[in-house]
Amino acid sequence: MNTYLSGIQSSGLLHLGNWFGAMRPHIALQEMEGEHFYFIADYHALTTSRDPEGLKQNVREAAVAYLAMGLDPKRVTFWRQSDAPQVTELAWMLSCVTGMGLFERAHSYKDKIAKGAKPNVGLFTYPALMAADILAFDPTHVPVGADQKQHVEMTQDMAASFNAAFDAEVFRRPEPIIESDDRLAKVVGTDGQKMSKSYGNTIWLFETGKGLKKAVNQITTDSRPPEEPKDPASVLLFRFLELFLEPGELTEWEVRVREGGADAPGYGHLKGRLIEIIEETFREGRERREELLGDPAEVDRVLAAGAERAIERATLVRDRALEACGLR
Ligand code: TRP
Repeated sequence: MNTYLSGIQSSGLLHLGNWFGAMRPHIALQEMEGEHFYFIADYHALTTSRDPEGLKQNVREAAVAYLAMGLDPKRVTFWRQSDAPQVTELAWMLSCVTGMGLFERAHSYKDKIAKGAKPNVGLFTYPALMAADILAFDPTHVPVGADQKQHVEMTQDMAASFNAAFDAEVFRRPEPIIESDDRLAKVVGTDGQKMSKSYGNTIWLFETGKGLKKAVNQITTDSRPPEEPKDPASVLLFRFLELFLEPGELTEWEVRVREGGADAPGYGHLKGRLIEIIEETFREGRERREELLGDPAEVDRVLAAGAERAIERATLVRDRALEACGLR
């Protein structure tokens, strides 16, 4: 039987990059036969958060967003990472069999430092916590964004090191599932770079009305007039439209832009259609989100039930690890 597991870091409002790269594939996988584990990585968010109220809100937002967009807690064990402390216990045990070099090679760490993050030890050992997150549940498959592939490979290494060090089959080797469609794997932001909170180029998933108009207006365009024939590949707005439009409609817009002339749509038209389709795509989710925000007890109940199941499972693996290394 397959077991799917993934986490989402709760360090801000979830944006279109999170939606196409993580949330949508996670929610789609719940239809597959097997077990499903998804959690909100709040301990990971603490590597950068210094805002207690903000962190709390971000955790709630992430929970509400997943539930609003269709995550089914009957099929999926859905919980908050910090509710299952067995994971941090495992993170310690794993870090004791991991060489410094493995952490030093992590792209994600190096990128964050290059962007000016002050390195703290938590940021450095982040991959050990992520390995524990994963290995605590014996998953067969870990659906993640391309930027997290190395972390899953490090998880495989740590699992193997622990098993070899204590000559025991404590941890099972998980395989990553990585989106192969580049458009989905790397959703662009309003400035054409990868969409990311740290670049300030995001569009919030549930944005609507004036806020959505403002966000879409941030998408970079140039001064070429509508009648000038253009290669759609040179128009950033198409990177967004192609995520939402049916293939037939997308082709129509592309043909008209490529041909140019008096009937060709300008950037304003393309933006108008994009605003419309984003509003439409997330309308139901937005409504459901409002309901859930108004019923915090219901969200708490879902997370508490998830935590109970997560703890049960992680305890089995934690006990196996304690025994293997002689702590019990
Ligand atoms: N590091 C992941 C991210 O930033 C989130 C995460 C934490 C995760 N623990 C995980 C993903 C375990 C998959 C499995 O997106």
